[in-house]
Amino acid sequence: MQLSDNKVALARRHNKVVYQDGYRIVKVFVPTKPAQDVFREALNLARIATTDLNTPEVLEVSKTDEGSWAIAMKYFPGTTLHELMEEAKGTEKFDELLETFVDLQLKVQGTKAPAALNQQSDKLKRMIGRVKELDPSQRYDLQMRADRMRHGHAVCHGDFNPTNIVVGENGDYFFCDWTHVTEGLPEADAAMTYILLTQEFPEAADKYLDLYSVKADIPKQKIQYWLPVVAAAELSRGRKAQEEYLRSWIDVANDFE
Ligand SMILES: Nc1ncnc2c1ncn2[C@@H]1O[C@H](COP(=O)(O)OP(=O)(O)O)[C@@H](O)[C@H]1O
Ligand SMILES: [Mg+2]
Repeated sequence: MQLSDNKVALARRHNKVVYQDGYRIVKVFVPTKPAQDVFREALNLARIATTDLNTPEVLEVSKTDEGSWAIAMKYFPGTTLHELMEEAKGTEKFDELLETFVDLQLKVQGTKAPAALNQQSDKLKRMIGRVKELDPSQRYDLQMRADRMRHGHAVCHGDFNPTNIVVGENGDYFFCDWTHVTEGLPEADAAMTYILLTQEFPEAADKYLDLYSVKADIPKQKIQYWLPVVAAAELSRGRKAQEEYLRSWIDVANDFE
């Protein structure tokens, strides 16, 4: 895959850079990124594209001249919901946007799941199994909790946060970043969103939980039950800066069992 000299880096992560290059978004991964992870992300995008949701169309999966895997997808012009919320902090508009955010999550979760999505409990167990920073007994407890999970049928984005929603100029919403999509329980997906929001907009996280619980008609306790499990899964993503913080959620589990 070739990128032009006009490309703009939108995000730099430990394992990739996300560029806008004209009408394309291109994710260029580090050379050590396993091919199967790259193809899985592209496959998830292809699966979710069969729904009515506005999602990125995959254009190409190939290697750059430097030998790194890259995924190109169609660019959706607009502003992220994160940017809009950041601008609206401390105003009524912020609360409106938070409510929209919850409505959008319910829209995704209420979408009929495409065939062959991964099961949420399997994914959580696999992710927790990779977290060698946790001792084996703690890992086992959390994996057992995920193993006892009921099979849900909601589309669970798995990383639903305002940076992954783009609002177009005409007010259309577009959902990106489907790496972690599964079919599963909406309350576990909401637990992940709650943890992400405690970092992104700490002042809004509890309000999110209240709003989501009422709108989804799911008791908050059911969401909170999954916090240690999703925090452990999130640890497997290797974001070192968050390690201590995520651990604090996992340690709560020891008080329950
Ligand atoms: N198809 C797209 N159209 C417009 N913007 C996008 C698109 N895909 C990603 N983005 C923007 O790039 C950012 C990073 O991409 P994302 O897929 O979320 O990667 P990451 O896994 O690093 O979070 C998003 O937050 C969004 O702002
Ligand atoms: Mg993202």
